[in-house]
Amino acid sequence: MRMKNNGQINIVFNGEKRKAIQKDVPIKELYERELSEQHIALKEIEDELEKLVGMDEMKRCIKEIYAWIYVNKKREERGMKASRQALHMMFKGNPGTGKTTIARLIGKLFHQMNVLTKGHLIEVERADLVGEYIGHTAQKTRDLVKKALGGILFIDEAYSLGRGGEKDFGKEAIDTLVKQMEDRQHEFILILAGYSREMEYFLSLNPGLLSRFPLVIDFPDYTNDQLMEIALLMLDEREYVMSYDAERKLRQHLIVLRSVQSSVSFSNGRYIRNVIEKAIRAQAMRILHEDSFEKIDLMTLRSQDFHFSEDEE
Ligand SMILES: Nc1ncnc2c1ncn2[C@@H]1O[C@H](COP(=O)(O)OP(=O)(O)O)[C@@H](O)[C@H]1O
Ligand SMILES: [Mg+2]
Repeated sequence: MRMKNNGQINIVFNGEKRKAIQKDVPIKELYERELSEQHIALKEIEDELEKLVGMDEMKRCIKEIYAWIYVNKKREERGMKASRQALHMMFKGNPGTGKTTIARLIGKLFHQMNVLTKGHLIEVERADLVGEYIGHTAQKTRDLVKKALGGILFIDEAYSLGRGGEKDFGKEAIDTLVKQMEDRQHEFILILAGYSREMEYFLSLNPGLLSRFPLVIDFPDYTNDQLMEIALLMLDEREYVMSYDAERKLRQHLIVLRSVQSSVSFSNGRYIRNVIEKAIRAQAMRILHEDSFEKIDLMTLRSQDFHFSEDEE
């Protein structure tokens, strides 16, 4: 009940409830609202994610994790139950689909959110974990976990640890990792990455593992349009441009290549990076011989700077 200036009395029944109803803005509209300033950590990461082509699922997922950690903090502040769930993750996808890039960004975000004290990324593969005699693997694995404390331990092609069965040292590495995940639960984040099919098989062999990875994220192959967008982005970062003919040649090449090559051996963003770096070297050689160093010459990659195997046929 509230007395108004003009002598009117304003009575609101179920004030609390009404407040709740008023807040029931359609979810889509709600998500479009600007977040308040204190979410600067999220904003910074979103700006970096913005620079990446595609990755819509990832972008949503990161925001969700952010919201969840933030809300838990708020609950803790009020003495409510807060689930300090583990944040270990599994990244499934072909090479060059952005797994390492995202892992690095996540480290940074979690560092800014005080989830990780350092936020650095230690990237390893089977050979770094597995040793030569019994006990050696456990030691090597523990040492790497120690190096990753405060940050992320990223194991690429993690399925290869499950390759040799019971007697293989890979098994010792897995057992050690599981133990470390338990003992140092909130001190580091483990990310296992690899091809989708292999990772699923790996998990089916180690059924206890899945429940320890609450976040399983797919990294799909890029479409040719997305690859072209990535190419333009990479050129822009390096202060280069492609001529119209060069762009058409690259696009045509991707179409041909991907119609003949199986998707598992195609390395997506990495392939594009290699093509561009190679073209940049070829361009340097060309303009050296042309002896023309105007700004436009220094910047432009022409179609003859892109050499593809189909050219030779
Ligand atoms: N969505 C994207 N937008 C822009 N560049 C990308 C994108 N995904 C991957 N790349 C680039 O492709 C290359 C390979 O990415 P990386 O994260 O190493 O892939 P992965 O770890 O899955 O093999 C890197 O140079 C990265 O910057
Ligand atoms: Mg990688």
